[in-house]
Amino acid sequence: MRNIILIAAPAAGKGTVSEDLVKKYNYTHISTGDILREMSKSEDEFGKNLRNLLESGQLVSDDIVYEALKRRLLMDDLDNGFILDGFPRNLSQANEYDKILKEVNKELGVVIYLDVPKEVLEKRITGRRICKECGSTYNVLTGVNTPKVDGICDKCGGELYQRSDDNAESFKTRYQTFMDKTYPLVKFYEDRNILYRVRSLDPVETFKEVERIIND
Ligand code: AP5
Repeated sequence: MRNIILIAAPAAGKGTVSEDLVKKYNYTHISTGDILREMSKSEDEFGKNLRNLLESGQLVSDDIVYEALKRRLLMDDLDNGFILDGFPRNLSQANEYDKILKEVNKELGVVIYLDVPKEVLEKRITGRRICKECGSTYNVLTGVNTPKVDGICDKCGGELYQRSDDNAESFKTRYQTFMDKTYPLVKFYEDRNILYRVRSLDPVETFKEVERIIND
């Protein structure tokens, strides 16, 4: 399968589309947010600083992200294609990514921009709940993906939790950072003719549109 870069504002649906692609097409999902959250669990100074940065909604320094990504791209589970969720996040990361791809001998593939209005995103962020066991995502405010039993995962029965940066205050910073730093990548990849725009307002329709692109 063709490799995919997902570009989208916070809570636009990158994780949700990725989960469906993994299930149906056996893609490998690489989320820099997940990798960084995992790294932030360490109890040393590095972990503490990283936790503070993530909770405030600011971007982590490029050097840390490059190192983490390079290590991930050298693992041997990417032959069936991979989805990059949350990287690149600014123009310098996009330029560095071209170099990293050469180093690890991989193709860039296609870039998909998930388009969602700001008002919808804010509601999704505050209502999002995630399963501690299997990572499935739900929403308790939007009426889409509502868990059948409050606080419990439909798929595995695991406990649902709320991410510490999923609040209105952190959303403001994350959204503004996205518009200032990440959104310019839409034009950057459009100029290379590899960008596809997808409205992400209904998970089923969104996935159908993404499937059309990767099977084209
Ligand atoms: P990251 O984890 O990447 O967070 P994010 O970009 O804010 O994205 P989210 O995970 O919030 O949203 P999503 O698009 O996956 O939405 P989801 O599918 O869950 O990054 C976190 C932090 O790490 C950053 O702030 C930064 O500090 C750091 N970081 C990460 N990468 C970095 C990098 N490269 N450089 C520097 N720093 C970096 O969906 C959300 C909700 O909507 C769910 O409730 C879901 O059920 C619902 N939903 C989804 N799709 C639909 C749909 N189509 N219709 C209706 N509802 C839907």
